[in-house]
Amino acid sequence: MKKFTDHFLWGASTSAFQVEGGYNEGGRGLATTDVQKVPEGTADTKVAADHYHHWKEDVALMAELGLKAYRMSFSWSRIMPDETLKPNEEGLAFYDRLIDALLENNIEPLVTLYHFECPQALVEAFGGWKSRKMVDAYAAYAEVCFRHFKGRVKTWVTVNEQLIATAAGNLNGNHEKDPVQNLRNIYQMSYHVSLAEHKAFALLREIDPSAKIGPVCAIQVVYPLTSKAQDVSAAWQAEELMEFYMLDMSVRGAYSPFVTSYLKNHDLYPVTEKEDEEVLKGSTCDFIGVNYYFSVCAKEKTGPINYNQPPFWVSDLYDICANPYLEKTEWMDMGIDPDGLRTGMEKIYQRYQLPMIVTENGMAVSETPDENGEINDTYRIEYIQAHLSQIHKMIEEGVPVFGYCPWSFVDVVSSHQGFAKRYGLVYIDRTETDPKECARIKKKSFSWYQTVIRNNGF
Ligand code: BG6
Repeated sequence: MKKFTDHFLWGASTSAFQVEGGYNEGGRGLATTDVQKVPEGTADTKVAADHYHHWKEDVALMAELGLKAYRMSFSWSRIMPDETLKPNEEGLAFYDRLIDALLENNIEPLVTLYHFECPQALVEAFGGWKSRKMVDAYAAYAEVCFRHFKGRVKTWVTVNEQLIATAAGNLNGNHEKDPVQNLRNIYQMSYHVSLAEHKAFALLREIDPSAKIGPVCAIQVVYPLTSKAQDVSAAWQAEELMEFYMLDMSVRGAYSPFVTSYLKNHDLYPVTEKEDEEVLKGSTCDFIGVNYYFSVCAKEKTGPINYNQPPFWVSDLYDICANPYLEKTEWMDMGIDPDGLRTGMEKIYQRYQLPMIVTENGMAVSETPDENGEINDTYRIEYIQAHLSQIHKMIEEGVPVFGYCPWSFVDVVSSHQGFAKRYGLVYIDRTETDPKECARIKKKSFSWYQTVIRNNGF
């Protein structure tokens, strides 16, 4: 049997805009994720999984599952609906009820302050993360949360997946058309995010010194497509530019020499101010959260730069491609690669020696209940078990991985692909266009995970 460490945090994840719904209730302001255009016939954030109205039932399900931790996020625009940054008491009260119910059930809340959704009012007022004003706005928001939930929330995440949060214009309100200027905007926004993170680290030390804080990164496991030296260089450079440049800023408050020279040579280096150094170097994080779904390959760059792909794949140093050795599925089109989780996390540990938690990992499938009304998601059980085996291996090797949160606790609306793409341990009975009652149905993976938690292993 693969036994996990005592006090291992068996968790599960969601994020506010993907699960809550109630988008215009309780004094909440609009977020970028509410106004982003979704294709006709695709679910949006208005109802999502209707957790805003089903939270009691959801906490009861978490307790039944035996969760030790629930990785959730606050909706900034529920707490601060507009650019005055005045806290909304009703919004805070919603999270009070939720957090208190979790604590009553001995479930530790792991709260992300910023998970993709940006208050639309801040985008309209000054352009969101493109502006330095966002750094202080975020610090003000973090301070309200740290003071209000002091002693109740003991683990905070600053920003979920800085890579995606800054690259996805529909999530952050950067709709720059010129591809080169778009890249400049992204690096500038990313720099502002790093400053904001460090302000939050410092604030938490002052307000609640015993609480812990860290970033969550979308780990990028990039293999060389072949053993050709140029493919090997392409792969490590891609990891530096897609993952470590952000983690270096979170942990060390500086870019590596490689990243510095890349940004300068490509005219992408952000605008900085003299006093930033003090902010960036003045604090660090306690842990690193890791989101992992798949790995990719890189090969030597050939031909012109292709701007018609995710901005973080745009480079004159590498071409990103799928790994021909991996099994692909409908939604997991880059393939399934449990070994990649260990490869990626080992690299992070070797570089920073910080404790780590897997904050997201999961398998998307289009699912409907069978004739008995059940969802027999054995593929998800296999996926999670294979990834947990890699975590177990790391722990045995002495790498401090202190928890695991599958994505997602219940089915949620995808970040950009609607509701057909399901990851949950709990099925939400709704379609893309008809939210129905959002009834909850436990999938087979729910009972399997319940047994894993009960036995502290499998
Ligand atoms: C992660 C995000 O990138 O991947 C989640 O943190 C997201 O918010 C998850 O839902 C799965 O991606 P998608 O695009 O399938 O929703």
